[in-house]
Amino acid sequence: MRLRPDRPLGLAPATVLDYRELARRRLPRQLFDYIDGGAYEEATLRSNVNDLERLLLRQVVMRDVSKRDPSVEVLGQQLTVPVILAPVGLGGMFARRAEVQAARAAERAGVPFIESTVSICSIEEVAGATSTPPWFQLYVMRDRGYAEDLMARARAVKAPVLVLTVDLAVVGARRRDIRNAMGPGVSTWAKLARGLDLVSHPRWVRDVPIKGQPLTFGNLEKAVPGARSPDAFRSWVDAQFDPSVTWDDIAWVREHWDGRLVVKGVLDPEDARRAVEVGVDGVIVSNHGGRQLDAVPSTVRALPAIVDTVGDRAEVLVDGGVRTGLDVVKMMALGAKAVLIGRAWAWAVAARGEPGVRHVLRVMKADIDVALGLTGQTSIAEIDRSALYNP
Ligand SMILES: Cc1cc2nc3c(=O)[nH]c(=O)nc-3n(C[C@H](O)[C@H](O)[C@H](O)COP(=O)(O)O)c2cc1C
Repeated sequence: MRLRPDRPLGLAPATVLDYRELARRRLPRQLFDYIDGGAYEEATLRSNVNDLERLLLRQVVMRDVSKRDPSVEVLGQQLTVPVILAPVGLGGMFARRAEVQAARAAERAGVPFIESTVSICSIEEVAGATSTPPWFQLYVMRDRGYAEDLMARARAVKAPVLVLTVDLAVVGARRRDIRNAMGPGVSTWAKLARGLDLVSHPRWVRDVPIKGQPLTFGNLEKAVPGARSPDAFRSWVDAQFDPSVTWDDIAWVREHWDGRLVVKGVLDPEDARRAVEVGVDGVIVSNHGGRQLDAVPSTVRALPAIVDTVGDRAEVLVDGGVRTGLDVVKMMALGAKAVLIGRAWAWAVAARGEPGVRHVLRVMKADIDVALGLTGQTSIAEIDRSALYNP
């Protein structure tokens, strides 16, 4: 397992895991654990990382690799590298207006940023701060009217892609959040201890909770009018996950969304086939970063069968455990069209804001370039399983 909490740092961060360590030092424990943790025993979280690390690249030499192209086209958009910033809820709690900072970093790097339904900054705030509109992630809520309103808002800012997250029919138990008394309905003592955890992190206090910029869920303010605390929103959100959703509901989404549509949270080839049959443009192979059902396969293990089942009819994207550019290359070799990163950008923005996210994206791009050169490849878009050792 690569995630060592006591990782020593040198003079400057060089990797995503260095940013993780910096985030650990800067954030209140409840927020660091919220980002870092997974569901139940965190076995799936670990296997996302470990299975990727175990997969090996095939080094081949003496090919002409003087031209190496890391760019791809995904869902009609040109990306400088096949990396996308995954939807991460509560971003603006990690750093000041963090979604805006991350979206700016993504724009500078030429990759998309996906705005989560449960972001702190609203989709309008993020879209207003960049000239490339974000993609928008939506949960299927019980309050369909509110979901329709959110789709209209995403359309109004010209979001090109709607990412419908479908793996939250019920919510997995995140033990670290429970231990940290995250969420509503906890005792006064627990609330006090949480408050102490926040105020004992002065760098975070100076950065995040500033006057005049509410730490509320910017996309949900109309749903919970007057609420000022994240806990009030969490209660509403938790009550909104709808376990009765089926593939038939995609038709309802299509009535309100005429842009590209992808479903996020598919792990099974049969589900991927159903998704394509009901007309989505793409699927994101994801186990929510190991934050939902534990003991399910890592995404790198689930990916090949899904690519084999629907890869010729839909764009298959993937996330989970991606910490380096080499991880991106491995996912691409298995047939992904692009790769989402969640914790990688969350740690970077928490540690160093927009420059941190820009740095992480630069490092990933440089890693990808070297990996292309030493696997004898000239284009990441054309890479296939032959780039893997003993696939
Ligand atoms: C702190 C955190 C919050 C997340 N919030 C959301 C969310 O609001 N919507 C969503 O679809 N996925 C959410 N995810 C899942 C990510 O989009 C993504 O699937 C996952 O982080 C990928 O794994 P990785 O973190 O190992 O890269 C969240 C993940 C993390 C770590």
